[in-house]
Amino acid sequence: MKRFFFRASFVLLLFVLAQIISACEQNEADSSNEPLRHNTYTPADNGTDEKTIKIGFSMDTLLEERWLKDRDLFKKAVEKLGAEVEILAANGDDAKQIWQAETLISNGIDLLVVTPHNAESTAAIVKKAHSAGIKVLSYDRLVKNAEVDMYVSYDNEKVGELQARAITSIVPRGNYVYIGGAETDNNAHLLKKGVFKVLQPLIDKEAITVVFDQWTKDWMPANAKANMEMALKANNNQIDAVIAANDATAGAIIQVLEEQGLAGKIPVAGQDAELAAAQRIVAGFQTMTVYKPINLLAETAAELAVKLANGEVVTSDQKVNNGMIEVPSILLTPIAVDQTNLDKTIIRDGFHTKEEVYQSKKH
Ligand code: BGC
Repeated sequence: MKRFFFRASFVLLLFVLAQIISACEQNEADSSNEPLRHNTYTPADNGTDEKTIKIGFSMDTLLEERWLKDRDLFKKAVEKLGAEVEILAANGDDAKQIWQAETLISNGIDLLVVTPHNAESTAAIVKKAHSAGIKVLSYDRLVKNAEVDMYVSYDNEKVGELQARAITSIVPRGNYVYIGGAETDNNAHLLKKGVFKVLQPLIDKEAITVVFDQWTKDWMPANAKANMEMALKANNNQIDAVIAANDATAGAIIQVLEEQGLAGKIPVAGQDAELAAAQRIVAGFQTMTVYKPINLLAETAAELAVKLANGEVVTSDQKVNNGMIEVPSILLTPIAVDQTNLDKTIIRDGFHTKEEVYQSKKH
């Protein structure tokens, strides 16, 4: 009997021990599951955080039609690459652009894209970004005298050349008016360089005379209008051709010509392929524009921005001197557009629809 009790209590003891061991194993399994579960959804726990890249885009203005395209296409391209973007526009105010860039930096961006209003004063933005460990990509317009990491634009000197070639082929002799862009924008200088590269040999031959040559403060059409009124007045309306730095200013210039009964009689060049300009080309009021497919610019810049933000090495075959360094650059090719190729350029690309362009609106 004693033996029976001894055996029974031994079996009981074994059973209890087995229960305890199994409970422990279960506990162990549970606790070892914990970090595993965490690892699968918060990699931050093991220090390999793959957080979403955030790009900041500091724009000068949204005034011209093109900048709305730039904003929307850049956002779309960045998001397609799995990154996010915060965009602020300064409405042509230098101080505002600097504090907006500071805001983007303190909002935790990984890379800053800048389209400067003022090529020189935005150098301060590059310094601030760099001291926060953030690289800077100059978009369309170059930031001068700063250690910009990358520059993506169209070949702006070529834009000027295309304008001048188109106009001189129609008006090889006569009085020319040059109405430039904003002096504070590096692009305005490049455009002018391109224009005068073509005009200079004709000036030297005394075939053409540049009777008026002015910048347009802040690219404002109202300032271009005032310039054109002055040009006509100073030359008793004896003007044979006008080269305007963009379509928005060309629109204002053509208005002045219209008031003088001269619209459609004097060739005018612009750039940007704005819808109103395409319509003026169809109506015969503007001779040509220069088309810069914004999707290419936005997509190229977005791709480079995300790569730079990820710390990847990006290569470029061109360099542009910004007064301080040779900036690695990508310069896309602009396209001259007149009545003969509207359809196979901007319309074919869907930049504007055929219906919009051919509605025969003048301004
Ligand atoms: C751009 C033009 C634009 C102008 C005014 C320039 O820097 O290259 O496309 O029309 O700025 O915004």
